[in-house]
Amino acid sequence: MDKKLTTSKIMQMKNNKKIVMITAYDALFAKIFNDIVDILLVGDSLNMSFNAEPDTLSLDINAMLYHTKAVSKVANKALVIADMPFGTCYDEKSTLKNAIKLIKQGGADSVKIEGGLRVAPLVKRLCDEGISVCGHIGLMPQQVRFEGGYKIKGKSIDDEKRLLDEALALQEAGAFAVVLEGVVSQVAKKISQSISIPTIGIGSGCDTDGQVLVWSDMLGFFDEFKPKFVKRYLDGAKIVKDAVQKYTNEVREIKFPSEEFEYRA
Ligand code: KIV
Repeated sequence: MDKKLTTSKIMQMKNNKKIVMITAYDALFAKIFNDIVDILLVGDSLNMSFNAEPDTLSLDINAMLYHTKAVSKVANKALVIADMPFGTCYDEKSTLKNAIKLIKQGGADSVKIEGGLRVAPLVKRLCDEGISVCGHIGLMPQQVRFEGGYKIKGKSIDDEKRLLDEALALQEAGAFAVVLEGVVSQVAKKISQSISIPTIGIGSGCDTDGQVLVWSDMLGFFDEFKPKFVKRYLDGAKIVKDAVQKYTNEVREIKFPSEEFEYRA
């Protein structure tokens, strides 16, 4: 079996091999993805797809810890990144306390923090403590209520410059990678070429060093809405519904359990 991926191995993949990241929230699916992808992200997006909340903001550290533990237990190949939920890194003390919880109790290899210049000093503090950090700039879902929606970033020259400054600040602070979400493709390309740490894109075109998708979106289980950047690789909800419908029919028609599924004396 391949050895467990580390942040330094991920960093070496820049300019060599595209990095593949997918979200994972439980042991069952994490085990399937672990053999294939490079990084499992315990993303706070789970609050929407798995907890029926309208956004990620209400997720707390204990819920994140629960999901991180489940994923980390089975991730013997892929690197595990746990998201820092909204409101868990507002100052140095809270950031350290919550990140240490996800690493120590949750078994995560790294944490991800949304934010650029504001969080760079916190990223540095975590790295000084021996905690690997992945940045997250561009469209930051935790800002949805503040910004009044999910807004694509990098559309103006000023915004492009700000994004580049943020990426450089995160690199300087010691982040091993940075997620670029909802960034205009040409800007994502420029950022990827201007920094030495890997960029992992979502809705940011094909020129980032890697890609990430939310598993329940790409496999068609979360079908309430589909952002433009999501490619559906499976019609998951339909496949599951058809199977459960078949089971229901067979129970009602007393076709299941047939003899082969019975115990006899
Ligand atoms: O929570 C999440 O799934 C994420 C990805 C969208 C990058 O942060």
